[in-house]
Amino acid sequence: MAFVVDDNCIKCKYTDCVEVCPVDCFREGENMLVIDPEECIDCSLCVPECPIDAIHAEDELPPEQAHMLAVNEEYAKLWPGITSKRSAPPDAAEWEYKLAKYPEHFSPLPNKQINE
Ligand code: SF4
Ligand code: F3S
Repeated sequence: MAFVVDDNCIKCKYTDCVEVCPVDCFREGENMLVIDPEECIDCSLCVPECPIDAIHAEDELPPEQAHMLAVNEEYAKLWPGITSKRSAPPDAAEWEYKLAKYPEHFSPLPNKQINE
């Protein structure tokens, strides 16, 4: 099992979660993070850190978020790691709890700030 970031993270990307992960298994895309399931040790420390409740245990993932399991697995292999909190996007609050962001707003690109 692993923990999974759901699509509520898209365009919010608060990054509080990365500060507590003992094994640095968050990976950063352009507008969301995912968890590398091969590194996650299921400690659950990140869950209460997310201000919009976007992280779930794999076996507690809401049915409407089932597709995000594969998204975390796939993009964890492609995106760079992130271990320090960044500033959230300026319009993050406007995107909190918007439904079904994945089809229209998911970006497959890796984070652009990698060299900053
Ligand atoms: Fe990291 Fe623990 Fe969260 Fe897994 S459950 S991503 S190991 S903080
Ligand atoms: Fe995303 Fe929540 Fe982390 S919005 S970046 S899962 S703190």
